[in-house]
Amino acid sequence: MTARVFLNGQWLAAEEARVSVMDRGFLFGDGVYEVIPVYSRQPFRLEQHLARLQHSLDGIQLANPYRLNEWIAFITQLAREAEWEDQSIYIQVTRGPMAVRNHAFPTQITPTAVILAEAMNTPPANQREQGIAAVSAADIRWLRCDLKTTSLLANCLLRQLAVSAGCVETVLFRDGFLTEGSASSIFVVKNGVLLAPMKNHLMLPGITYDVILELAAQHGLAHDVRDITEAETRAADELWMCSSTKEVLPIVELDGRTVGAGGTSGPVFAQMYAWYQEFKAKVMRAAP
Ligand code: PDD
Repeated sequence: MTARVFLNGQWLAAEEARVSVMDRGFLFGDGVYEVIPVYSRQPFRLEQHLARLQHSLDGIQLANPYRLNEWIAFITQLAREAEWEDQSIYIQVTRGPMAVRNHAFPTQITPTAVILAEAMNTPPANQREQGIAAVSAADIRWLRCDLKTTSLLANCLLRQLAVSAGCVETVLFRDGFLTEGSASSIFVVKNGVLLAPMKNHLMLPGITYDVILELAAQHGLAHDVRDITEAETRAADELWMCSSTKEVLPIVELDGRTVGAGGTSGPVFAQMYAWYQEFKAKVMRAAP
């Protein structure tokens, strides 16, 4: 079966979908995106992802080409029709094509909107059980990391540092404080308390991050949202990464040094992972 993709209001075979080389998304990374997990064909936290898309569009001064109910209809249609039960749905909106290359916005904007589905590959059980290794790096990105823009070169370079070292993620520090991962949010556990960096312009407001804090509150796990120093991160009992596609994973090694006492996945992680799976199952059962 040929995958179908949504391009500017039309459903096309993936090979037929074409975007101009003059598209500002291609030439300038002038666009925003979302990645929405789909379990058993049910989009997870769809409204929250679409609210964040609106925040990103507002942040780059680009009018949303569709209303909320239109996005919901397109995405649920794709989730129903795509080849896989569990998917990761990618949506992207760019400022569209321009007649001549010019950094300033064109006077007439025709945005380019794309929606496509890929198979969702949640991390293998051994990563969850044994944990993963990470490296750290200085956060070299710009000062609007709260916007989910397609200008991801810094994130790509930072992620590659991890891959080149045989690791999974790069944990980022800016001016001595933890921000996030190259493509994930990061949590610290110390003395039984879950610590999360405060949402601000230096990190993406993660949808999975919100779910984890909600679950902590719901189950009475002590938690604190505040600035976290690099030293505190390195002295963590447990370190986690989370995202829509990775869910939540324990980081057991940072820059070649064991995190906490274990060198393996910790007890607070095991509890949170169980709550997360239970919550997902409940949400999916309640879906129409
Ligand atoms: N990225 N921080 C960054 C820089 C990210 O790129 C992501 C996710 C997250 C986690 O956000 P969420 O929980 O909403 O997925 C945090 C996606 C998955 C990606 O770029 O593929």
